[in-house]
Amino acid sequence: MSLQLRVYVPDHPLVKHWLAIARDKNTPTPLFKTAMKELGKWLTYEAARYWLPTLEAAVESPVAPASVTLIHPQAEIVAIPILRAGLSLLEGAQEVITANATYHLGYGRDEASLEARCYLNNLPAEFSEETRVLLLDPMLATGGTMMAAMAEVVKRGVNPANIRIVSTVVAPPALQALSNAYEGLQVYTAIIDQELNGKGYIVPGLGDAGDRSFGTGS
Ligand code: URA
Repeated sequence: MSLQLRVYVPDHPLVKHWLAIARDKNTPTPLFKTAMKELGKWLTYEAARYWLPTLEAAVESPVAPASVTLIHPQAEIVAIPILRAGLSLLEGAQEVITANATYHLGYGRDEASLEARCYLNNLPAEFSEETRVLLLDPMLATGGTMMAAMAEVVKRGVNPANIRIVSTVVAPPALQALSNAYEGLQVYTAIIDQELNGKGYIVPGLGDAGDRSFGTGS
């Protein structure tokens, strides 16, 4: 696989631990939700590096003047969870970054064609070119849903270099599709799994992230 996008897999015990909990089929829903929240937090922490615009300033500490670095007050930061499973990552992401706005994209999957069907899109007509977008979806399998979401964001004026995708488990077909379309895009994930099964699920993956987050399904 030759990729033009950058994929970051943080080598961090907290990321590995919460991935292990999420992978385990015996993990009950409340703990699975905690695992997704934690992964949303730590992966967003990594994604925020070199992404959040900063401002150099000076403050007076109780002892002496100090040079400091702040998140730029005019930074336009937008979070977009992809419903419904992306909501499970949002809670943790919000502990790390303060988004000016959170918009929602909802996609269902046609189980026969595995294609993404959009049922909710409340994005504004346009974003400024400076807008930083955090796209959250726990599973990038075929990449169909994320490709559709990226198209909606980019056609509203966002520079792909200002987009960070946070996803728990990703697979090569999704990475290849995103890479072919968006050179320089950055993806933050806990693991790259190599295979999809006949139903488009990532193997070993963690099953249906939406069902496991919300306690639905069998
Ligand atoms: N969506 C999921 O929830 N799990 C997968 O393995 C693939 C897509």
